Amino acid sequence: VTRSVPVIAIDGPSASGKGTVAARVAAALGFGYLDSGALYRLTALAAQRAGVDWDDEAGVAAVAAGLEVVFGEGSIRLAGEEVEGAIRTEEISQGASKVAALPAVRAALLFRQRVFRCGAGLVGDGRDIGSVVFPDSRLKVFLTASAEVRAERRYKQLIGKGFPANMQAILLDLRERDRRDSERSVAPLQQNEDAVLLDTSGLTIDQAVDQVLDWYGSAS
Ligand code: DC
Repeated sequence: VTRSVPVIAIDGPSASGKGTVAARVAAALGFGYLDSGALYRLTALAAQRAGVDWDDEAGVAAVAAGLEVVFGEGSIRLAGEEVEGAIRTEEISQGASKVAALPAVRAALLFRQRVFRCGAGLVGDGRDIGSVVFPDSRLKVFLTASAEVRAERRYKQLIGKGFPANMQAILLDLRERDRRDSERSVAPLQQNEDAVLLDTSGLTIDQAVDQVLDWYGSAS
């Protein structure tokens, strides 16, 4: 039914800037935006609040299936409470990475992601957006940057939001998460063969956005 709604899939490692680029591309095209990582982060936060262990697969999957979430402009509400800041902490990042490795959790979040495909188009960011959630995406981008550049960006982002941050700790966490995300058997972090590589280490956000828009223009 919604197959004619074009999708741009953007994946890449944590803190690569894919979320920012994806949201900007969506705004430029008048498309919707799906931050699929937020769903895993919300699941980790909701599980923690419910006292469900992050490696309790059935328990976390039930939490994922029952998430009461409302996405707005720069706002995410969980059961009515604003949690945009709470889901971005390093602790919840680690939790999201853990719950994302559980197949039952991924299955519970699949349908929730597909309903975002409506209107003029959709830009989705996240791990299996181009391979599993929307395999017929018109353009698939693997957006990355060096670990050092990513750590520095996350550091500035946290400080800018008034959260305490430590550069060395962030770099170590990023490397650990990269390793766990790459080595896991379920939806590992990897560049799929039908995705184009965009290394943003030396690019501004505007340059990265322009590149994606350019590619999309040639793909449609
Ligand atoms: O992109 P992010 O850092 O907000 O993602 C949080 C975690 O969820 C990260 O460990 C990757 C994982 N994730 C996933 O497995 N599948 C997705 N579609 C999106 C995110």
